[in-house]
Amino acid sequence: MSAYQKEYQWALSQPESFWAEQSKNIDWFKAPQTILANDENGIERWFPDGELNTAWLALDYHCEQGRGEKVALIYDSPVTDSKQQFTYSQLRDQVANIAGMLAEQGVTKGDRVVIYMPMIPEAAMAMLACARLGAIHSVVFGGFAANELAVRLEDAEPKVAMTASCGIEINKVIPYKPLVDRAIMDSRWKPERVILLQRPQCEAELQSERDLDWAEALEGVKPHACVPVLATDPLYILYTSGTTGKPKGVVRDNGGHAVAMKYSMSAIYDVPQDGVYWAASDVGWVVGHSYIVYAPLIHGCTTVLFEGKPVRTPDPGAFWRVCEEYQVDVLFSAPTAFRAIKKEDPEGELIKQFNLSNLKTIFMAGERLDPPTQEWVESKTAKPVVDHWWQTETGWAIAGNPTGIEVMPIKAGSATKPIPGYQVEILDELGEPVAPNQQGFVALKRPLPPSCLPTVWRNHDRFESGYLSQFPGYYVSGDGGYLDEEGYLFIMGRIDDVINVAGHRLSTGEMEEIVGAHPAIAECAVVGVHDDLKGQLPLGLVVLKDGVKIDDLQLEGELVGKVRDQIGAVACFKHALVVERLPKTRSGKILRRTIRQIADGEQYTVPSTIDDPTSLEEIEKALHS
Ligand code: COA
Ligand code: AMP
Repeated sequence: MSAYQKEYQWALSQPESFWAEQSKNIDWFKAPQTILANDENGIERWFPDGELNTAWLALDYHCEQGRGEKVALIYDSPVTDSKQQFTYSQLRDQVANIAGMLAEQGVTKGDRVVIYMPMIPEAAMAMLACARLGAIHSVVFGGFAANELAVRLEDAEPKVAMTASCGIEINKVIPYKPLVDRAIMDSRWKPERVILLQRPQCEAELQSERDLDWAEALEGVKPHACVPVLATDPLYILYTSGTTGKPKGVVRDNGGHAVAMKYSMSAIYDVPQDGVYWAASDVGWVVGHSYIVYAPLIHGCTTVLFEGKPVRTPDPGAFWRVCEEYQVDVLFSAPTAFRAIKKEDPEGELIKQFNLSNLKTIFMAGERLDPPTQEWVESKTAKPVVDHWWQTETGWAIAGNPTGIEVMPIKAGSATKPIPGYQVEILDELGEPVAPNQQGFVALKRPLPPSCLPTVWRNHDRFESGYLSQFPGYYVSGDGGYLDEEGYLFIMGRIDDVINVAGHRLSTGEMEEIVGAHPAIAECAVVGVHDDLKGQLPLGLVVLKDGVKIDDLQLEGELVGKVRDQIGAVACFKHALVVERLPKTRSGKILRRTIRQIADGEQYTVPSTIDDPTSLEEIEKALHS
């Protein structure tokens, strides 16, 4: 048996013994006696009687072990032309003070804190400060509009919101305070306090008693100690797009998460404790939670927090410059970032200017890694490129090439094999496993390993109906794909109304709700069409109400504005096409998949359930004219 098979079989046949062993690698306040047990909802929970604190594991523990002087976090910000480094003891002290500041505002264990911040060290510190108090953070990506923030405020009901005066994008400053004010105005839930960090690029006005200046609020506070929590207590809620306009609050627990994070750093990424780990993502996404903040710090690495883009900050050499400057061991980003670099530096001239001898492996996730991008990065950097598949719901990779266990041969287009702890099966519509190479629903057999969500925040029914009830005994991932005869997993894309735009997960269902609310529109469909740079881009097809006269371009402009205003620029909704009617089944279901295939110029079969086949010809004409 290979090393991978051995480890995989152990996790499969004796999950409790496997995870009990892994749990010994973190410093519990009270080690768990029970490894796996069902909760009141009948959901399997890991380490239910263990006690710990995630901020302790990420900071204090390393200081206690004599590693306080090691650099914990490097901040590199080409957009503000600044750089900063924090040792473990410096980071611990700042986090303890921020925790003290939150405690003074009445935040205690179990309270929620919404964090709407750009990629600055204080964002990570705010997360860790919540963890220190046993409070539950919910980070909202800075690219989301006020409406998205309002929806999250309403669902999470935070006591405090933490923000900064602005975010900085390529050549533009985005003031956050007006967005926060509007979100609070629109939300039925009002946080008691907004703590705002002023940035010199755009200072915000504090208007009411509700608003507190971060620096002033910190003055004279007492550092707060780590509060013990149960392994099953929530560490954070992270909202992610589902099929409707209401995002799902994915709940992450403390204990399972910490154990999985620690395990992944050795098993998947093979990073030494003194290594430098760089996830070029954003703290607003799950990759940022797991691999900018928690996993590298729990492991004792140096993590890089980069406030910039792969291109235009200032050029497509940014990634390679950072890798050389900080001796990065492992780089992790989304394929779209590398496609952007490839577009602007096709020959990889800038790669040659930097010494990448320290860089061991490049990991990619967030969307399918297309073979041309994989080949380009591999050939230009001469580094192994590892695709791995995961979701906000799991918090870590479900399938990948576990380089710390065994480096398996790579197959283009495949995320390699299930990571130990995950049982990946491909099911047909009846829930029966299909033969190798046959596509179906990618499902995970329960129990899910540590770190995977145990529920949707305050909506357990949604967890059951959205993930568990379709195939009893399984979690349905929402992705379609197949396993080949050697057990390699190929993820072929979402089979629901979720699309992936530049590695950002977005709901076409939500866009349809916004577009469909326009007074001129009778009905609409939004589909994700292929884009060479961003993977997918949303495209709206709209049918006007009878008798409505409106210029197509004016309508498109209004719809683009509405989506931008309600979801955010990051949705990249730029096109809406007026059509006479939408192709439907006889029962009235819009044939979105077929529309997408037509838009992408793919071969398609006319569904047997179609109401009127000529409707497809009309769409084909409209899309390609
Ligand atoms: N705050 C505010 N606005 C943001 C934002 C943020 N954090 N992130 C993106 N936006 C805005 C951008 O300014 C842009 O606005 P515009 O339409 O007014 O120009 C819009 O959202 C789209 O942004 P983006 O998707 O970043 O496109 P881009 O063309 O500026 O850059 C890439 C293209 C490929 C360089 C960029 O998408 C990228 O770096 N992708 C990697 C994504 C990633 O790391 N994903 C995480 C998963 S691991
Ligand atoms: P998110 O929850 O934002 O991480 O998005 C998860 C979704 O992104 C998955 O359900 C997939 O559709 C897609 N995804 C993430 N990683 C990969 C990958 N390596 N290959 C293919 N799709 C991926």
